[in-house]
Amino acid sequence: MDLHLKEKTVLVTGASKGLGKAIALEFAREGSHVFISSRTEASLQETVEEIKKESGNNHVQYVVCDMKDKAQIKQLAEQVGKQSNRIDVLVNNAGGPPAGGFMDMDEEDWYHAFEQNLLSVVRMTKEVIPYMKEQAEGRIVNITSSSIKQSIDQLILSNTMRPGVLGLTKSLAQEFAANNILVNTVGPGMIATDRTIELNQAWAKEKGVETEELIQEATAKIPMKRYGQPDEFAKMVVFLASGANTYITGQGLVVDGALVKAL
Ligand SMILES: NC(=O)c1ccc[n+]([C@@H]2O[C@H](COP(=O)([O-])OP(=O)(O)OC[C@H]3O[C@@H](n4cnc5c(N)ncnc54)[C@H](OP(=O)(O)O)[C@@H]3O)[C@@H](O)[C@H]2O)c1
Repeated sequence: MDLHLKEKTVLVTGASKGLGKAIALEFAREGSHVFISSRTEASLQETVEEIKKESGNNHVQYVVCDMKDKAQIKQLAEQVGKQSNRIDVLVNNAGGPPAGGFMDMDEEDWYHAFEQNLLSVVRMTKEVIPYMKEQAEGRIVNITSSSIKQSIDQLILSNTMRPGVLGLTKSLAQEFAANNILVNTVGPGMIATDRTIELNQAWAKEKGVETEELIQEATAKIPMKRYGQPDEFAKMVVFLASGANTYITGQGLVVDGALVKAL
């Protein structure tokens, strides 16, 4: 299948490691011009070099951007636009909110999660839509969580913000379908990255058990009996963002080895 991603300008935010990095690597392998961003310049530099080496594609660049910061988001879009004159694909990603239940969170936690995991998608999307309208084509994929389908214990902030992104996705898909801008959301179940290590440590502490024990219990609950790998997740994102996807829009999909029981 030709994904029609060669020489397309792709922006993946929150991509110095984990899922964002795996997604950026797959785009680089397809011959896209890839921009990655995150908060840490040193890890971005390292990741750019790794992606170039693994993909053999030298069109990989970084821009430092904290997705909680409106001005930095604006600058990120301007820098990509200035260098490429177009933005074909936007993958909205950032770090996950802290683990915990309702009474663990104060006003500041709620505000941070809102800025990082919902408002960031609004702000970034608003910056790239004018490019996509001008091009009469665009693809946006929002990275969320399996909490778009089924709430997760001790993740109140994710359970609240991620469904908001799904609602936004549905509305954007309808509003911009006429501009040939397709918008989808993909939620990971349990994919092996630093984020799942952090969550497992937090949940083990909460339950008073060893992290290893908790991982075994969590793995047993996944019908495929293993965590997913970042590249298994990335392939779905890249397909939805590609020219090969011409009709799937407004959807919330999970990549979870059948973990989620909700329809
Ligand atoms: N892995 C899973 O199974 C899983 C499951 C459910 C949901 N998710 C969600 O999927 C997303 C990606 O997960 P992951 O596993 O790849 O996480 P990860 O390994 O912790 O990586 C997060 C990435 O986002 C960047 N980042 C964090 N906060 C940021 C901010 N404010 N602005 C810009 N970049 C930021 C980090 O780089 P810097 O530190 O350099 O900024 C890093 O590159 C997260 O939102 C996570 O909650 C993951």
